Amino acid sequence: MCGIVGYIGKADAATMLINGLRRLEYRGYDSAGVAVLDDDRIVIAKAPGKVAALSERARAEWPAERFSRTTIGIAHTRWATHGPPTEVNAHPHLDQSGEVALVHNGIIENYRSLRARLVGKGHHFYSETDTEVLAHLIGDCDKGNLFQAVCDALHQVEGTFGIAVLSAREPGKIITARRGSPIVIGIGDGETIIASDAAAILAHTQRVIYLDDNDIAIVTADSVDIRDLHNIPVTREIAELGLDAAAAEKGGFEHFMLKEIHEQPDSLANAIRGRLDFNLGSSVLAGMGTSPRELAELGRVVLIGCGTSLHAGLVGEYAFEDLADVHAEVQQAAEFRYRNPILGSRDLVVAISQSGETADTLAAVREANQKGAFVMSLCNVVGSTIARETGRGVYLHAGPEISVASTKAFTCQVVVLLMMALKLGRGRRFSREEGIRFAREIEMVPALVGRMIRQNARIADIAEGYAHNEHAFFIGRGPMYPVALEGALKLKEISYIHAEGYHAAELKHGPIALLVKGTPVIAIACDIPGKDKTLGNIEECRARGARILGIVTEGDQEAAECMDDFITVPRCHPLVATIPAVVALQLFAYHVARIRGCEIDQPRNLAKSVTVE
Ligand code: G6P
Repeated sequence: MCGIVGYIGKADAATMLINGLRRLEYRGYDSAGVAVLDDDRIVIAKAPGKVAALSERARAEWPAERFSRTTIGIAHTRWATHGPPTEVNAHPHLDQSGEVALVHNGIIENYRSLRARLVGKGHHFYSETDTEVLAHLIGDCDKGNLFQAVCDALHQVEGTFGIAVLSAREPGKIITARRGSPIVIGIGDGETIIASDAAAILAHTQRVIYLDDNDIAIVTADSVDIRDLHNIPVTREIAELGLDAAAAEKGGFEHFMLKEIHEQPDSLANAIRGRLDFNLGSSVLAGMGTSPRELAELGRVVLIGCGTSLHAGLVGEYAFEDLADVHAEVQQAAEFRYRNPILGSRDLVVAISQSGETADTLAAVREANQKGAFVMSLCNVVGSTIARETGRGVYLHAGPEISVASTKAFTCQVVVLLMMALKLGRGRRFSREEGIRFAREIEMVPALVGRMIRQNARIADIAEGYAHNEHAFFIGRGPMYPVALEGALKLKEISYIHAEGYHAAELKHGPIALLVKGTPVIAIACDIPGKDKTLGNIEECRARGARILGIVTEGDQEAAECMDDFITVPRCHPLVATIPAVVALQLFAYHVARIRGCEIDQPRNLAKSVTVE
């Protein structure tokens, strides 16, 4: 979703800003823009489409010297909400005087009334955006002190924002603030970088400050002065990113998605490292901050998330009930706070979010806190808002995930949920021996996934046979049902094939009407309880001419014979098998999308981090 970069420091701010935007491209966006101060005048370049188009536009329109002499600017990638992705709607937006420029992530909910008031005062608007209204409001509040003007404007705003503001009247500083949309400030050597995401900062420095909601900062090349919206100074720690800039590069793979699929043996090993206790037959997840007694007394586990994270939660639901004997349920984060959920102190709410910034999941966390539940998070991005607001939980350690379609984060989420279920299970029903046995199963996961990745070429061949269909169904039962949902999501996200995931038994209650000769049905038919029934459902599909791709357990000849094509998954515990099974579907979706010539890492209309409700 939208990305912000601000730069103040040495020369060539324009290039720094455009390079910063490139590092945010993975978030998903549809137009981009940059504003720099040149000769104490704000100059702007914008373009619909990709950052490459913006770069071309700026180089064509701006004199080369501008690139070498500007030292301050702000830039943005926009994911359209208010108004289509046109040049005029792209950020930065100017105020009425043309001397104040603003980039903004989030949504100004009361922009209509603010706009009407400003129009009444003679302001003229060019775009359809809520952001231009905020730019004008700041300009309108500016009586000679930009910081105060931004505070005054933000007091009038309802909604969410992460912003960076530049003024020709006060060169040498950028004002940045946040409420509900992340801002991180990188402290370099004689330069400071503001960004909505650490990926834009990595190449410059590892030292960062995360703003909290309602923080506003005055940023110069060598200082960061943070206050609240009432101008009271606040102290925020400097954190170390601990991320490798190389981790955000493609490393020889054609796409980030393929790279991230291949990274899974390592990312899973990182997620597991030091967390299995073979002596106690349990897991060590210190970040959960729970005593064995608290775990034993839990009445329910509620898993919340969106998209792929929601699907990980669905696997977790099976794991908690099966291994830990605790009632578990999954709730869609977007619905959670609006349905007035019944929660209490014996409920453990686990918020699952790769980015740790998803607006719906964050709102659900706040609701769960309000209701007195025990709330923790399962995030990948260290220092993200959800991780910080929950204060306890387990990091995935999957490394930066750049591809919009989530792969390694999902498998790490599942493995961490399995370790959480093991910990709970050990406190409630597992004997030491049972605990050790399951810990050994978890320990094997990276190697099992390595074996799946070695089937890449075979899966690429199989994908040829399915790449030219426009519809596909994914079916599974038990813990393979969420795998079917995730497989369908991956395929539709990146290949634009209409794909639906169903419980294997549900297909005959409606969707089977859509099967015609050659319709692909991808059946997750691993050898787990219920497999025979899934094979029966496959026969129902075959009888209607469907073409079946099966995900089957190695050596299961009976299942393989039911399929037109099949991919094998190593024999392991049914819950553990969800991980290699999903890896097969990730590779399948990837190759189908590649064959169809789709833009895999940044699919149309999608965003990596969805910070609007
Ligand atoms: C977006 C992404 C999905 C992701 C979902 C939840 O829709 O495109 O890949 O699963 O958000 O994101 P989160 O960061 O909360 O896991």
